[in-house]
Amino acid sequence: MPPQSGGHEAPPAEARSGSAGSAVRDAAGDLLHGATVVLRPATEADIPALAAIRATPEVLARWRGGPDFGPELRESIAGKETRFLAIEVPDSPGAPGRVAGAIQWSAEEDPDYRHATIDIFLDPALHNRGIGADAVRTLATHLVDVERFHRLAIDPAADNEPAIRCYAKVGFRPVGIMRRYERDADGTWHDGLLMDLLAAELIR
Ligand SMILES: CC(C)(COP(=O)(O)OP(=O)(O)OC[C@H]1O[C@@H](n2cnc3c(N)ncnc32)[C@H](O)[C@@H]1OP(=O)(O)O)[C@@H](O)C(=O)NCCC(=O)NCCS
Repeated sequence: MPPQSGGHEAPPAEARSGSAGSAVRDAAGDLLHGATVVLRPATEADIPALAAIRATPEVLARWRGGPDFGPELRESIAGKETRFLAIEVPDSPGAPGRVAGAIQWSAEEDPDYRHATIDIFLDPALHNRGIGADAVRTLATHLVDVERFHRLAIDPAADNEPAIRCYAKVGFRPVGIMRRYERDADGTWHDGLLMDLLAAELIR
């Protein structure tokens, strides 16, 4: 699981610019800006939009749950261990963002194994436009530069080709197959693919 800390040196967050593609905290400390996406803590007001996305067949197949996603989403929003962020995309240039999905991360803080893990779901209407990679890159940049993780991990189902491709675009590499790692809704077990990324491998 988690990796060791220390090692890589990054400039302090305050020294970095907010140019497209660089993930930085805003003055309030809670917005991350990507090339297109903005990541911010999800709130109660996001639940209807996020529940509708969770209910789509494409997301349901990977995240399961339901039929009432409210309690689970409320728990994710309130959770302290896992940071649950809404992904906003602009409807048009300069327009206010709309919720396109969510991305979450949690940390293994044991110093001898320190690392962060990421998971994501996105509105299928927006798939295959690079938004997933932008969101993962934005969060990964924050985790490396600001939270100072030297290693990130992610564990898509072994047959989730779009997710594997999305993460590979950000620099995640396959480590190996975790056999019968995850149980499906029908009770059968399927393989997972462990992917990880070391700080220097992040494709910014
Ligand atoms: C995983 C997910 C977030 C990716 O988001 P996205 O915005 O579509 O990702 P991107 O557009 O950045 O990248 C997707 C890549 O997969 C490719 N792809 C799509 N379908 C594919 C397939 N069947 N086989 C191989 N590659 C495929 C796309 O062409 C694209 O690669 P490219 O940019 O080189 O052309 C999104 O598919 C999703 O929410 N899926 C449902 C929930 C889920 O699986 N979550 C992940 C759990 S680990």
